[in-house]
Amino acid sequence: MSEPKLSADRLLLFGATGDLSRRMLLPSLCALDADGLLSPDLKIIGTARSDMDDAEFRNLAREALETYLPDERRGGMAAFLNRLSYQALDASTLDGFGALADKVNEAGPSDSGMAIFLSTAPSLFGPTIAGLKHAGLTGDNVRMCLEKPLGTDLATSCVINDAVADAFPEDRTFRIDHYLGKETVQNLLALRFANILFEPIWNATYINHVQITVAETVGLEGRVAFYDDAGALRDMVQNHMLQLLALVAMEPPGSFDATAVRDEKVKVLRALREVDASETVTGQYRAGAISGEAVPGYDEELGKDSDTETFTAIKAHVDNWRWKGVPFYLRTGKRLPERVTEIVVKFRQVPHSIFEGLGATMMPNRLVIGIQPEENISLSLMAKVPGLAQDGVRLREVPLDIAMPDAFVGQHRRIAYERLLLDLIGGDQTLFVRRDEVEAQWHWVDAIRAAWEAAGLTPKTYTAGSWGPSAAIALAERDGVSWHE
Ligand code: BG6
Repeated sequence: MSEPKLSADRLLLFGATGDLSRRMLLPSLCALDADGLLSPDLKIIGTARSDMDDAEFRNLAREALETYLPDERRGGMAAFLNRLSYQALDASTLDGFGALADKVNEAGPSDSGMAIFLSTAPSLFGPTIAGLKHAGLTGDNVRMCLEKPLGTDLATSCVINDAVADAFPEDRTFRIDHYLGKETVQNLLALRFANILFEPIWNATYINHVQITVAETVGLEGRVAFYDDAGALRDMVQNHMLQLLALVAMEPPGSFDATAVRDEKVKVLRALREVDASETVTGQYRAGAISGEAVPGYDEELGKDSDTETFTAIKAHVDNWRWKGVPFYLRTGKRLPERVTEIVVKFRQVPHSIFEGLGATMMPNRLVIGIQPEENISLSLMAKVPGLAQDGVRLREVPLDIAMPDAFVGQHRRIAYERLLLDLIGGDQTLFVRRDEVEAQWHWVDAIRAAWEAAGLTPKTYTAGSWGPSAAIALAERDGVSWHE
């Protein structure tokens, strides 16, 4: 068990005027404040390149809160805005960091340290850390939190991680994967490790395969340069999907503690088998329609031809005893027919059917864990269709459904960043990604990209509003598996 940490009483936000800050970070912090979860001593210092004073930054924050936070969660907004101050900074040179340190100190003496959140272009990570060091802002009571993308491959991610490690040891480095802040993702741990039912059958003897789908209806969303250099594999699989896979596949940790949980996840990530190009599919959307509305193709949004994949499906394997021979089918894409993130665990057929010969059709049990937009868990069971027929037994699959919002009426739906910011301020690393995890993730993903390159694979086209190229359906159907839709 790690030492309990003191809650930081300073939060320094780099990229404070940017999209993530306005959409997620400021609203999350305000919502935490409204719920009384922030210490009255916490001061939030924003910094970015734009020249503005405290009052202008508070105005920007107010507009962001009014746009992105529902009315009922804005209680105490004025008090929250009073926590904010701002210092303009060009993080690419050392010059302004002295003034930034003065601004941090202006907030008064800190009793319990500072958390720094870097939500800037990764090219600024190195210079920012050098600047913080120069200005004496990297002391033992300072934590560093980083947003993705942390590199574009293993080598570039090591450069970033080395630059961070130069000033912040691993136990003060917090790498965000915002999927870990989602309530239903954490609920996966509760489902697996707070119930006796699942763990005994959570293995290759009883599970046929696992599917993980992260489908989005959005397209490029104006992130032209970033996305075209990344693609679905690096944007979604390398981080979010592999974290989901690790939570499904990991061994039970000894405790709900940062070291114990992350030790188990990294073992899974390291056990991922190198994938052959023939076990993957890539796609790129063309013009189509989503919910009846016409949308342009990726090439049209981009304004040029590109070989970047906006869809990928991969048949993955975890090479260990528990998962021997159990495929994990992963698929993610932009401009798919619906926004849905879900994990499907398909169990094996019963070993012997007593109903055979009585006309009954048997379906293997299936557990569907809906992460978004609906948070629900559904277990399909076989049941007898009521009736007195004497010529056989009719069975049908019926779902045992738990809709989380119904089960926990009166609880807020929280933004993933609320959990993560609270844990950052409180110093709990359990839901943050450790360096060895990130590196294992990149190692596996880099090998897939190399395999694509060696095979000369280019994305197949798919119509926006469809479930990706037909090859993705074939990838599963070759094994007699259908994607859950
Ligand atoms: C981000 C990706 O990490 O996750 C985006 O860069 C993607 O491309 C987003 O749209 C999805 O997050 P969520 O929480 O909406 O599923």
